[in-house]
Amino acid sequence: MAGPWITEHEIKVVEDCMRNGWYNYGYVEKFQGEFAAYHGRKFGIMTPNCTHAIHLLLTAMGIGDGDEVILPECTWIASGAGISYLRATPVFCDIDPVHWCIDPASVECAITPRTKAIIAVDIFGNMPDWDRLAEISRRHGIPLIDDAAEALGSTYKGVRAGKFGVGSVFSFHRTKTVVTGEGGMLLLDDERLYERCMFLRDHGRKPGGPAYYNYEVTYKYMPFNLQAAVGYAQFQRIEELIRKKRWIFERYKEKLSDIDDIMFNPEPDQGFNSVWITGLLIGKRYKLGKLDMIEKMKALGAPARPFFYPLSSLPAYPGQEAAHRARNPVAYDVCSRGINLPGALLLTEEQIDFVCGAVRRVLAERA
Ligand SMILES: Cc1ncc(COP(=O)(O)O)c(C=O)c1O
Repeated sequence: MAGPWITEHEIKVVEDCMRNGWYNYGYVEKFQGEFAAYHGRKFGIMTPNCTHAIHLLLTAMGIGDGDEVILPECTWIASGAGISYLRATPVFCDIDPVHWCIDPASVECAITPRTKAIIAVDIFGNMPDWDRLAEISRRHGIPLIDDAAEALGSTYKGVRAGKFGVGSVFSFHRTKTVVTGEGGMLLLDDERLYERCMFLRDHGRKPGGPAYYNYEVTYKYMPFNLQAAVGYAQFQRIEELIRKKRWIFERYKEKLSDIDDIMFNPEPDQGFNSVWITGLLIGKRYKLGKLDMIEKMKALGAPARPFFYPLSSLPAYPGQEAAHRARNPVAYDVCSRGINLPGALLLTEEQIDFVCGAVRRVLAERA
């Protein structure tokens, strides 16, 4: 929680919007357009947050009662909440032990005649095996969605996170790399899907159509121009923000490089990991669960957060744990041993040193 990185530039852009931006969507349009172009996508649709972007996309894809949508166990609940909003069923899959994203083999096992979509999540900035996922998606005729909420700036074989599948989503929550406080973006290439999402986003009105004339009862998921002004100004500094994220990650790796049996976010040969957050997976030899590790670090004054819980283990999805613990063993194991180190953009080298000192002391006691 060292803070997002807001400069005079953002303040000036917001000031302009405060003075001139109340009766137009100028910054929303600029942000949507340039953000989509950066990702090689045709269309960008800003939303009040990323959770809404996922819900909007699933609705436009026609997902509803009785359908199943596949997603990984290890993600924030927002990846799958939209599935339940639509009375469809989330189907939780196992993850890969190295990149912690969805495991294509587990996806293949979970497909049934009711499967209507597969959501893959670029967790912490890490990328899944997009080639295999795309091949499974093609072979079964099931559309793929890229939840790139945490992966702004990451690439897989030269392709940016957010360019995979029929649609992708990003979050600009105050903890993300580009922030708007709350905010999200949906990226698409298909024009019909785009038009449907634009229609669903604004009370079932046709963009440019008659005033106060609604064709369906839909959502009100319009973004706010001021929110977009912050995001647009931040986005203009994207390379600088990503460089700082990498700097944080590289400092952690370097300073903890002599400690045995710990794992960080992977850095694949053919990709770039923008590392939204540094994940630290503690080796089994330490016999230390994530909550114990965090407690011990806290006693030394160093904050850390746990990896996500397997979704199927949460009270939000009652009665799922026993079957899924057996079916998705990697997720249950990795989620029990992983912590996230502080990663906000204003973090200093001294603060990183302090956190590394705490990690070192806790693990030394268990070695
Ligand atoms: C993987 C993932 N998906 C979706 C979301 C939802 O983003 P938001 O908080 O903007 O709704 C988040 C963010 O917290 C996330 O980490």
